[in-house]
Amino acid sequence: MAAAAHQPPPSASPVPADSTPIAHPLFSRIRLAGPSDIPHIHKLIHEIAVYERLTHLFSATESSLSAHLFSSPPFQSFTMFILEVSHEPFPENSPHNSNSHYSPVVRIVDSEVPVDDPERELYKSEDENVVVAGFVLFFPKFSALLGKPGFFVEAIVVRKCYRRKGLGKMLLSAVVNQAVEMDYCQVELVVLERNVRAIKFYEEMGAQILGEWRVCDLTGDSLRVLQTNDCELSLLNHYG
Ligand SMILES: CC(C)(COP(=O)(O)OP(=O)(O)OC[C@H]1O[C@@H](n2cnc3c(N)ncnc32)[C@H](O)[C@@H]1OP(=O)(O)O)[C@@H](O)C(=O)NCCC(=O)NCCS
Repeated sequence: MAAAAHQPPPSASPVPADSTPIAHPLFSRIRLAGPSDIPHIHKLIHEIAVYERLTHLFSATESSLSAHLFSSPPFQSFTMFILEVSHEPFPENSPHNSNSHYSPVVRIVDSEVPVDDPERELYKSEDENVVVAGFVLFFPKFSALLGKPGFFVEAIVVRKCYRRKGLGKMLLSAVVNQAVEMDYCQVELVVLERNVRAIKFYEEMGAQILGEWRVCDLTGDSLRVLQTNDCELSLLNHYG
């Protein structure tokens, strides 16, 4: 679905809304992720697992990500936006500027102080002097109650040295804009109760925190047990 194909092409050197001089401009770009981003995505997912103290559940591999992401057109299934930053304007001849499904969003963020990125080399992007600073992973869902589709945000992350500069908001806004563009009625996500910083972030974004809901998860053994019961049931029905 070429949902955003008619958006204007991104400007390589956007001008901020007001003309106040920016001390330490950080050029920030949101674009669709693709297979070549897998190594960065894998490292970022590991960072989320460490941050959320969930490394015991971390079993994603670059191969499992490659096997499942990017096999459908964007926005129809699992979709990822990659956040990149640079101290220079993004190259005008970047291959990412010409995606038929989504025109990248470029903004200048005032970082107030220069960002010291200790993992710059590790997160180097395809474009020169550009580094990956985060991502958001989302996919379509359907609200039975509202009778309309929406997006479920599975994961969002901004690397530590780039936080509190409005980049998380830029990522979430990109998903919201896409939802509105597609006439979707909702953007929903789940957050750990102990992740108070993320909860503050979502509250600040205007999200309602629905305390009365519980997340019910069937993974691993629970999935297999239920599947077995279901097989036994169908055998019973067949022979019984
Ligand atoms: C949550 C996360 C994506 C936010 O990204 P970010 O780039 O720091 O967010 P922004 O700079 O756009 O924040 C926008 C506003 O949200 C609020 N906010 C964001 N982080 C906050 C924090 N740690 N404490 C309090 N308020 C916070 C602030 O009001 C902020 O505006 P301000 O900086 O001008 O005060 C980032 O902190 C992150 O990657 N965390 C680790 C992974 C994670 O927890 N992901 C969510 C899992 S559900």
